Amino acid sequence: MVDITQIESALGINTKAAIIEQIKHPILDEHKIELHIKRDDLVHPVISGNKWRKLKYTLLYALTQGHDHLVSMGGAYSNHLHALAYVGHKLNIKTTGLVRGEQPEEENKTLSDLRKWGMTLKFVSRSDFRELRKNRTHNDKLQKLYGGFWIPEGGSNEYALNGISEIVKEIDMDFKTLALACGTGTTLAGLAKSIPDESRVLGFSALKGGGFLEKDIKKLLRKNSRHNWSVNFDYHFGGLAESNDELTSFIDEFQSRTNIPLEPIYNGKMLFGLFDLIKNGRFKKEQPIIAIHTGGLQGNRQSQ
Ligand SMILES: Cc1ncc(COP(=O)(O)O)c(C=O)c1O
Repeated sequence: MVDITQIESALGINTKAAIIEQIKHPILDEHKIELHIKRDDLVHPVISGNKWRKLKYTLLYALTQGHDHLVSMGGAYSNHLHALAYVGHKLNIKTTGLVRGEQPEEENKTLSDLRKWGMTLKFVSRSDFRELRKNRTHNDKLQKLYGGFWIPEGGSNEYALNGISEIVKEIDMDFKTLALACGTGTTLAGLAKSIPDESRVLGFSALKGGGFLEKDIKKLLRKNSRHNWSVNFDYHFGGLAESNDELTSFIDEFQSRTNIPLEPIYNGKMLFGLFDLIKNGRFKKEQPIIAIHTGGLQGNRQSQ
């Protein structure tokens, strides 16, 4: 029998580290807003934020079914592939990563970690990558093609929702809004499925053209759809890898005030958006907001 608690301890996962910190900031004082951050970035130095939450029950299912090889897809800076490769390395499970685009002449730090942890990398054209995205669940065809258990991009499947639900179970205070950054929308779907009735989830799309998001979230939620969530598309800054001076100085100021590290791809954009909405009076006073820190700090190394 596969024991997920033993796996978590073999990996060094510590969900107790994901404390909830209240943020002190003059903008919050001025608008009488209580903001907390749930530090899921502290769950593990590599498999941080939403990464383990999304992988946990997929891994349990795959291992229970006797699979010894995990296959997934992502961009050249993918936090998801990074976490998966590390899991494979630590648990001695074979992994394959299908990476979008041509193999770069000089590989970045994410790709070099993937190789170091023994992930087999296959570079696929952007058009083939788009086709691959359509594979949402493992099936015999994928098994034959890639020789392992298929995990969709970003770990986006129904098992992931169960892992994400555990974030909500760890919240021991009342809140009105849960805020988070969205890529595939899976984390948002898992939160929307599990929050109390009087609360809402507000996602910030990190992607330009994330029009697919709402449809994908509804698909993931299926019968569980509770109309208790929404996605804001105003703070992607031109796309996943894009940033500007305004975002950079917001992140610098936030980090120096709070000592909470951020990256500009997901969490920096989400908090920028949240503060902007607060400044514009979009939240009722004294109704607590909790922002989920979804990790991804390995992405910060690319510019160093
Ligand atoms: C750090 C980080 N935050 C947020 C997200 C978005 O999560 P989701 O794809 O579940 O919307 C991702 C991507 O998985 C991520 O790597």
